[in-house]
Amino acid sequence: MTGHDRALARAPQVAAPATLVLTRPDDWHLHLRDEPYLADVVRHSAERFGRAIVMPNLDPPVTTTARALAYRDRIVACLPRPEAFRPLMTLYLTAETSPAEIRAAKQSGVVHGVKYYPVGTTTHSHHGVSDPEQVSTALAAMEEVGLPLLVHGESPDAGVDAFDREAVFIDRTLDPLIRRFSHLRVVLEHLSTARAVDFVAAAPPHVGGTVTAHHLLLNRSAIFDGGLRPHLYCAPVLKRESDRRALVGAVTGGNPKFFLGTDSAPHARTAKESSPGRAGVFTAHAAIELYAECFAAAGALDRLEAFASLHGAAFYGLPPNRERLTLVRRSHSIPETLPFGDGELVPFRAGGTVEWSLARAASQEGAR
Ligand code: NCD
Ligand code: ZN
Repeated sequence: MTGHDRALARAPQVAAPATLVLTRPDDWHLHLRDEPYLADVVRHSAERFGRAIVMPNLDPPVTTTARALAYRDRIVACLPRPEAFRPLMTLYLTAETSPAEIRAAKQSGVVHGVKYYPVGTTTHSHHGVSDPEQVSTALAAMEEVGLPLLVHGESPDAGVDAFDREAVFIDRTLDPLIRRFSHLRVVLEHLSTARAVDFVAAAPPHVGGTVTAHHLLLNRSAIFDGGLRPHLYCAPVLKRESDRRALVGAVTGGNPKFFLGTDSAPHARTAKESSPGRAGVFTAHAAIELYAECFAAAGALDRLEAFASLHGAAFYGLPPNRERLTLVRRSHSIPETLPFGDGELVPFRAGGTVEWSLARAASQEGAR
């Protein structure tokens, strides 16, 4: 029996506690977009998380510290309580990223990671990396100054089966890269396969991985359930049930290499319900509640705080948040749509329910 299997085999708790108090969690992989969408998007994350690693795949991408600072200011301007939510900025790695830019990013204290997008794999990845050799001097500088590399781990090779892209990227690109830059801190983002779980678990301690709520809750059959479900299409695409179970085993197993990253990625409803439809699932409106559902189903609610609030902070060398967040085991309804600038988006579980709620919502209901 592997560690994953043992975690899954733990009997579900007979009566899950009605409330769960956590150190305020952080989201280590988040897409906030830009004006005119920012205010509609960021409020959901700010309600739940103390900090978030903000992805740089805007158009044009956030390739310099100056752009990251300006983007941070636009985000902060949308926050009702700027002191309660801290955006941790990232740079978008390109063939032009210089070692000097890396050093400036580190010195700024504002940039906490640099994102590697293989060209052609996901939203706005066309400015990304086609050959890791293009970015070797930047990677060496990151290794030297201690700036983590955040990796979209999918092979851009069109000849590779869509469901094998993560495994092929690990074998052909990530494994050699980690060996060559042996002190570089690396986060393999949005793990989607048992292969990725095993790879991260076996890698050195400075290699971690984020896991989304949707990859924990669904397998690829959900995309075709009763017809094509464009709002469940994301990169990397959902995988088999055996992969989902390996992910649940990883996050509930207590290993500090695995931490929370929603990859909440909003797109306008019209961009999702079109051909080709854009990749990305929006979960920010119920993010920590969805993770609680998954951990409760696995009988591992006692492991949620470490995964959501402690492991990621330790990996990034930051203290845990001092504030707390209280969840209550009571379902709440998810609207069919949410505002998104001049349009709307379709949130995860649209028209359905989520089994956990923020306690704040409970006290507001009581006050009505
Ligand atoms: C993300 C987006 O839309 O920005 N999409 C997604 O499906 N996850 C980009 C990404 O993280 O791949
Ligand atoms: Zn992402």
